[in-house]
Parts: sequence; C-alpha cells; structure tokens
Amino acid sequence: MSSVVIYCRSGFESDAAAEITFQAAEQGFAGYVKTKPNTGIVVYECFDPSHGDEIIKKIDFKNMVFARQWFTGTLVDNMPLEDRVSAIVNATVDFPSCGDLRVETPDTNEGKELSKFCKKISTPLKKALEKRATVTRELADKKPVLHVLFLSNDTAYVGYSYTFNNSPFFMGIPRLRMPNDAPSRSTLKLDEAFNVFIPPHEAEDRLQPGMRGVDLGACPGGWTYQLVRRGMFVSAIDNGPMNDDLMETGQVKHFRVDGFKYRPEKRNIHWLVCDMVEKPAKVTNLMIDWAVNAYAKELIFNLKLPMKKRFDSVYECLKMIKEELEKYGVSYELQAKHLYHDREEVTVHLNVTKVPQSLYS
Ligand SMILES: C[S@@+](CC[C@H](N)C(=O)[O-])C[C@H]1O[C@@H](n2cnc3c(N)ncnc32)[C@H](O)[C@@H]1O
Repeated sequence: MSSVVIYCRSGFESDAAAEITFQAAEQGFAGYVKTKPNTGIVVYECFDPSHGDEIIKKIDFKNMVFARQWFTGTLVDNMPLEDRVSAIVNATVDFPSCGDLRVETPDTNEGKELSKFCKKISTPLKKALEKRATVTRELADKKPVLHVLFLSNDTAYVGYSYTFNNSPFFMGIPRLRMPNDAPSRSTLKLDEAFNVFIPPHEAEDRLQPGMRGVDLGACPGGWTYQLVRRGMFVSAIDNGPMNDDLMETGQVKHFRVDGFKYRPEKRNIHWLVCDMVEKPAKVTNLMIDWAVNAYAKELIFNLKLPMKKRFDSVYECLKMIKEELEKYGVSYELQAKHLYHDREEVTVHLNVTKVPQSLYS
C-alpha cells in the first residue's frame, strides 16, 4: 500500500502534512504529501509502495499531534453507483484479515452529507467482506481495522490501520455527551483529553475519587466540573467568578490569585490542569516547573497555537519539555493531540512517573 491517509481538523491540513513529512523522514521513509485546504485529510504517498504498512507500524501514532486517525490504503474512484460494494471488496484482496469495518468520511460539511449513505452501505459491505473473510469476528479487537473513507459518492480511500497504533474511535473522534449542568462547553475538552490520553483499563486508578487537583485558569469551571464529577477535590485558580453549583459541592476551593505564581503547599496533587490563554512558551515553562518540582503527578494543559507555523510552535514546546525533564533526570510520558474539541490550541498530557528526590526535598 503506497498511501497513508491522515484525518485532521479541517483547516489544519498543512500542519498535518508537515508532521507526517517530518515523522516519516525521522524513520527513514521517503515520499510526498498530497493535500488540499479544508478537506480534513492529508495523503502521504510513499515512493516505495511497501512503506505504507511500515509507516503505520513504526511511527508511534501517539507522537502524531495533528492526526486524529490514519490508515494505509489505496484510492478507489469511478465506482459504478449500482455496485460500489464489489469495487471496494476488490480493492481489499491484499489486505490482512480485519476485525472491524469503519465506513467514514472526512470531518467536513461535504463529509456530513455523505454520512447517511455511509450508514446505508455499511451492512451490505460488511456482509460481502465477511464472505471473503476480509473481515472476521474472531479475535476482532486484536485484528486490524478496515477503513472505507468516502470522499464523494463514487470515490473512497480503502485501507486498514492496526489497533495497537491507531485511534480506537470512529473517525478518530470520541463521542461525548455535553452534561446539562456543566458551566461551559469547554468541559468537553478535558473530558475528551481524559478519554484520549488515559487508557480505559487505567482510568479507575488514575482518575480516582478523593484525588486532589489544581485547575489554573478555572473560571467559570468547565474543567473543574470534570474533576469534581470524578469525585476529586479541586483548588480553582482564577480571578473570575466560579459557577455557584460547583462551589456548593464543597469539593472546590477558589483562589483569586495569579496562576503563574500559585504553587500548592503540599505535594499531594495528582492532577494539574491548565487552560490559561497565554503564550505557549510561557505555559510550557510553567508546566516544566510543576513537573520538575514534583508538584503534580499528571498534567493536562492547552497550548494556544499561533496564526502561522502552528506545527513548528507545538514541536518546539514539546522539545523544550523533553530537554528540560531529561536534563533534570525526570521520568515521564508525553503526548499532545489536536483534539476534536480543540480549535486554535492543542492539548498536552504529561505523566510524571519519577522525579529525583534531590530536586525538591
Ligand atoms: C479559556 S478560560 C478557562 C475556561 C475553563 N477551563 C472552563 O472550562 O470553564 C481561561 C481562564 O484563564 C484565566 N486566566 C488567564 N490568565 C490567568 C492568570 N494569569 N491567572 C489565573 N487565571 C488566568 C481567565 O480569567 C479565564 O477565566
């Protein structure tokens, strides 16, 4: 398979293109990108056709910031409208046996118009693929996912991704419900971040009732709401007004102080979350300070994107974090993602697994 198809937010194609070009080159792959603005996809064409499969195995999907999903595959166009199923099935002859079928579209207005048809074709397509044993039910969760990404009613990219290195979500977007009583829509950003960054089997341990959290730039309380909802106790830092219902839970203390100066009295904070609108480098330095001084174990924060060179800006901040933490001998896991609920920002998760005691005692 020579193409790697990447899904991204519409308008961020150049960032997703810069990213796959950089990541592929880092791993020694050569190719070129095909992309058009506002299509919600980027296609990386490998010079060596066997490299599509290699890329989606070797590049860690967790390192892809602007990619919501990816797969390796091929373009199927000019499908006869009376039998698109056969055209798609024929394109899968060399595919590995898959455990799931996702009939998807790019996340654009044109894509939305195709979604009804995608639902309609899914059942006959699945039956036809099962007949050929391209999609089978045994060990389904371990087997690759077969993607059919419709661009128009007669054109689709058809390919597969590996479950150990893809997004588990349909179209790479977790479906979340907006809670009626949340103080702001941005509550969904933190909910999505928890869903994307914390594997479901670890969520019980890492998002436990009774844990302590700090929310920098908390008002009106959408992010605090997600911590409170999970039974945590939160110090909310902001000069603005906090939502009354949240304050009445008794789980929130509101401090009207500067989020850049606030530090906790004790090192008993599990979650630091930060949604202050500030220069990305300034927020990055603050987060490094919290990590190196062991003020919090896990951090989730937003980096606002500049108008231009958004890919460069994010990668520079991530590099700064890596260099500083390595310099101080701090062990960590780091992941950043342009989430579905993010617009001009990306969300970063830093899990601080070990800080040398000499740094803070
Ligand atoms: C995007 S809003 C946060 C929204 C919040 N996460 C929610 O879900 O409701 C940014 C907040 O950061 C606060 N903020 C900006 N600079 C700050 C600073 N230096 N210290 C404390 N809060 C700050 C602003 O007052 C504002 O309420």
